[in-house]
Amino acid sequence: MKKLMIVVVCLYTGLLLASLVFADAGAAKLAAERCSACHSTDRICAQLGSRTTEVWKQTVQRMVSRGASLTDAEARTVAEYLGTAKPGAKPLCQ
Ligand code: HEC
Repeated sequence: MKKLMIVVVCLYTGLLLASLVFADAGAAKLAAERCSACHSTDRICAQLGSRTTEVWKQTVQRMVSRGASLTDAEARTVAEYLGTAKPGAKPLCQ
């Protein structure tokens, strides 16, 4: 019974971690695709690590008002990703 519990807990933790990693990869891809329509992602990469998620939310909203094509949910996903991304994060930055 104890073994079963351990297996279940391990599986659950594994799935949770995998979903976090995939969510992050999805957000990075979204940013790389939608944020490179008007300028290169260098502009974004220059700011990674120096803005909070809140500030990125404002930046992304400004980009949407300039014509960036993101739904509200996508804008939030991208801003949350940018707020935690490290400088030089792939595939956004070269
Ligand atoms: C419709 C065209 C367009 C798209 C798409 C776009 N941008 Fe911009 N971006 C601009 C323009 C125009 C400027 C320069 C004027 C300004 O800063 O508002 C700019 C400037 C920037 C800057 C430098 C200014 C600053 O605040 O440091 C950053 C960072 C940035 N964009 C991030 C993004 C992100 C993140 C995305 C994707 C969510 C994105 N951009 C998508 C048009 C766009």
